[in-house]
Amino acid sequence: MIRFCLNGNWIEESSVSSDMTVLRYLRTQQVLPGTKEGCGSGDCGACSVLLGERSVNEVGNSQWQYKAINGCITFIAQLDGKSLITVDALATKGSAKEKTPEQLHPAQQAMVDYHGSQCGFCTPGIVMSLAALHENQRINKNSEPAEHHQIIDALSGNLCRCTGYRPIIEAAENMGNYENNSADVGKVGIWQPEENIVEEASAGLLHNASSNDIQSQSWSPKTEDELKSLLAQYPEARIVAGATDIALEVTQMNRRISQLVAINDIASLKTIEIEDDSILIGAGVTYSQMEATLNEHFPEFGQLLHRFASRQV
Ligand SMILES: Cc1cc2nc3c(=O)[nH]c(=O)nc-3n(C[C@H](O)[C@H](O)[C@H](O)COP(=O)(O)OP(=O)(O)OC[C@H]3O[C@@H](n4cnc5c(N)ncnc54)[C@H](O)[C@@H]3O)c2cc1C
Ligand code: FES
Ligand code: FES
Repeated sequence: MIRFCLNGNWIEESSVSSDMTVLRYLRTQQVLPGTKEGCGSGDCGACSVLLGERSVNEVGNSQWQYKAINGCITFIAQLDGKSLITVDALATKGSAKEKTPEQLHPAQQAMVDYHGSQCGFCTPGIVMSLAALHENQRINKNSEPAEHHQIIDALSGNLCRCTGYRPIIEAAENMGNYENNSADVGKVGIWQPEENIVEEASAGLLHNASSNDIQSQSWSPKTEDELKSLLAQYPEARIVAGATDIALEVTQMNRRISQLVAINDIASLKTIEIEDDSILIGAGVTYSQMEATLNEHFPEFGQLLHRFASRQV
């Protein structure tokens, strides 16, 4: 069973196969059609959603921290214990009783006011990337306005065919001027959900589901020893780190992956150790996390890495 928080509500998912993508899950199982499918391969960002993990921020508080990911190349099995926010939940719902209107998130309202959308197909993804930037500035930087290069980075994984980027960048530059309804987490309830519902998952089987076409299993080990013993026991199981490559086997090649071992929760694989003559980068470290270290020690390599893919990847 996979437990995760979807738009502020904890849910337990036991029936879908582990290799179902988050995008497919949202659109077909949850009937949340706001998240769009463009390319299905991580290139366009139309499927961007926000993935939250608990971590300690720069001022020492433990909070959910969000980043934009591509739902089309993330497996449902990677969501266990995480918080997922989709565009469908970004606006604060109005209340007929209290006579309060719906209030758009600052990223949404700025996109409206600065004419950041024409056909609108890319817009949910762009709004989610901007919302991630806005919320990270709010949570970690006391709502400092984002710098131009941060805006460009945040939008690097979102393609827009028709609007052009100038109005979108203007929206990003000005979204900090809008009332931030998400600051009142009690009211909105999606950004910092209660975590006490998350149970300690064991290294054992996390998810076991059979559907018409596949019997699927997934695991989410917490230590390297647990990972080792799982791999010894299930030599055919596929390791999943970010899934930005392996997921293409499912979305582009129509293959199925019946046994998945997600290594996202192994803390010891997320470390970067700097030694006298080497840098040891754990297999669970993301490109974005590596970038700062490489910029410091090998600036040319850092610059090269900056050109890799996008923030979502
Ligand atoms: C839109 C887009 C743009 C990209 N642009 C670039 C680019 O500019 N330059 C570039 O070089 N690359 C680029 N890539 C490729 C990108 O670098 C890879 O997708 C990424 O490095 C894969 O890492 P992952 O953690 O997501 O791997 P996964 O997809 O999780 O895994 C990939 C493979 O490695 C295996 N694996 C994972 N972790 C381990 C482990 N610890 N031990 C053993 N096996 C393991 C998996 O089983 C799988 O077979 C791009 C990808 C996308 C989607
Ligand atoms: S649909 Fe294009 S990145 Fe996901
Ligand atoms: S508004 Fe049409 S693709 Fe961006």
